[in-house]
Amino acid sequence: MKHLLSMSDVKDDVETILSIAEDLKSGKINEKPLEDKYLGMIFEKSSTRTRVSFEVGMHQLGGTPLYLSSKDLQLNRGEPISDTARVLSRFLDCIMIRAKSHANVEELAKYATIPVISGLTDKEHPCQAFADLLTIKEYKGDFNRKLVFVGDGNNVCNSLLLASAYVGMDMTVACPEGYEPDEEIFNEAVSEAEKTGAKIEVEHDINKAVEGADILYTDVWVSMGDEAEQQEREEVFKPFQINAQLLSQANDGAIVMHCLPAIRDQEITDEVMTSQQSAIWDQAENRLHAQKAILYHILKEE
Ligand code: CP
Ligand code: NVA
Repeated sequence: MKHLLSMSDVKDDVETILSIAEDLKSGKINEKPLEDKYLGMIFEKSSTRTRVSFEVGMHQLGGTPLYLSSKDLQLNRGEPISDTARVLSRFLDCIMIRAKSHANVEELAKYATIPVISGLTDKEHPCQAFADLLTIKEYKGDFNRKLVFVGDGNNVCNSLLLASAYVGMDMTVACPEGYEPDEEIFNEAVSEAEKTGAKIEVEHDINKAVEGADILYTDVWVSMGDEAEQQEREEVFKPFQINAQLLSQANDGAIVMHCLPAIRDQEITDEVMTSQQSAIWDQAENRLHAQKAILYHILKEE
């Protein structure tokens, strides 16, 4: 594995990265193998968790992170992505990028001679999916579970579909018609799930979807970049809120997850976010352990 732009890039590394994350979190791995390694972090969109987890994580592993706002880079004045990739490859050991367009990240990776990690695009959020798998493993012990993603079939949902298929976890996307996940990713997840025995499906009836759920997961109804559709989305997604009533329809002991940031009383109620069944804060912490595991796996042997 060189780049991590999609979960499909790490199909065969999921168990290894999760195991590294567990060992980093427990302290079993406590070395600092990334001394003299530099990570450039390009952000075209806002971030709290991705930026801080990569920045702190890189320091904790002995390396040096550089925050590069796309507004300040020559990229913003029209320098081609290909030239940026060629030049940054001469200075750095790895690039993490949060970008508006997945195609641009693919372009960056094409011309970079160092590994490129996606920290979210309009299509996927693979780093989030690793923190999510780690959290589910901690709470449930295994992946022989049913995850129901409630809301928009967006970037977070797309990466989770692939992640679920690879680890053999059932996943139902409960979304309004017209807001299904990326078709190509969904089809790939279904075909991978045939090998691992997972059931991957889309269900527009929210009540039917949550039957037998062990994990209820949601994300904002209006992702970064979708602001022009805000009004329409807030109307369409109303029946797709995780609240106490919906949670009571899931299995006993079901957990609730959210990648954050959350908009209270839109996609999730405050009551559920702060309830005993919420795994959300551990999930956020796990971004740190998961991102360190990704860096460790990609950069240690470089
Ligand atoms: N979940 C997530 O990626 O959070 P940030 O947007 O704060 O990085
Ligand atoms: N789907 C959200 C995730 C934020 C971490 C977005 O793209 O804005």
